[in-house]
Amino acid sequence: MKMTIIGCGSIGKTLARFLETMDEVELVHVFDTKQKAVEELMTECQKVRYANNLEDAFEKSDLIIETASQSAVHEYIPKALEMGKNVLVMSVGAFVEDDFKEKCRILAKQKGCKVYIPSGAVCGIEGICAAAIAEIEEVIIMSYKPPEAFRNVKYLKNKGIDLDSIKRPKVIFNGHAKDAVKYFPKNVNVAATLSLAGIGIERTVVKIIIDPKATLNTHRIIAKGKFGEIECWTRNMPFPENPRTSYLAALSLISAVKKIAGSFWVGV
Ligand SMILES: NC(=O)c1ccc[n+]([C@@H]2O[C@H](COP(=O)([O-])OP(=O)(O)OC[C@H]3O[C@@H](n4cnc5c(N)ncnc54)[C@H](O)[C@@H]3O)[C@@H](O)[C@H]2O)c1
Repeated sequence: MKMTIIGCGSIGKTLARFLETMDEVELVHVFDTKQKAVEELMTECQKVRYANNLEDAFEKSDLIIETASQSAVHEYIPKALEMGKNVLVMSVGAFVEDDFKEKCRILAKQKGCKVYIPSGAVCGIEGICAAAIAEIEEVIIMSYKPPEAFRNVKYLKNKGIDLDSIKRPKVIFNGHAKDAVKYFPKNVNVAATLSLAGIGIERTVVKIIIDPKATLNTHRIIAKGKFGEIECWTRNMPFPENPRTSYLAALSLISAVKKIAGSFWVGV
């Protein structure tokens, strides 16, 4: 298989390094607005090429993988779908806009291709998908992160919250996923994925807690419905160079690529 990765940051680089080890993967085009990041990656990854011409890279690829930003999803994913390419998207927050999600769904259907969304930084997504087939009454996600994960977040500045003065766990957001994704676009992809899997952004409740003593990014999901109850905790190691991102998010993407490229699929 040939692939294109958009975004050469923590997740994109981790994926590219793993693709080096996969027999099924022949060539990896990588695009980033910071070309230098890709050039550095090329010094250690033989299969990686810088995607000078993204349309050409898409044309030559079997799978387009976004690991960049919500704006990159808007900019490139519809184009890839129009070209009939399967896409894997990490910046899931982009799909909380119903119109955009619908546009991508219709394009994928018309062109006979797929939009894949990995479970990301939480476990339990496949259980919520299954539970949603019957009826789910409520879904709550509580995310506990260290202050560093919220450095320069505008919402906190507007609320007058000073990260350095937080000495004990503090709830900084308690509301619906629709608003959480808007105010914390770089932090709440898990809330977006959970909403898409379960009862939607209008009904999924999100609580974000800053814990000054936290060293891990922790997510607790509770769901109740006809199926019974789900409660699961995920305690994630952050990437050293990017505390907003959990290592598990990159691993879930690698796992998704292995499922798509391989021939044995556990946990469909
Ligand atoms: N689904 C999940 O559970 C989950 C978990 C963690 C992160 N994420 C999301 O995945 C994405 C990547 O995360 P990361 O930690 O690797 O981020 P990162 O900041 O380390 O890297 C992102 C890279 O993408 C590049 N980029 C951004 N916008 C671009 C554009 N329009 N065109 C080309 N390049 C662009 C940046 O230059 C940067 O090098 C982020 O949007 C993040 O919010 C999702």
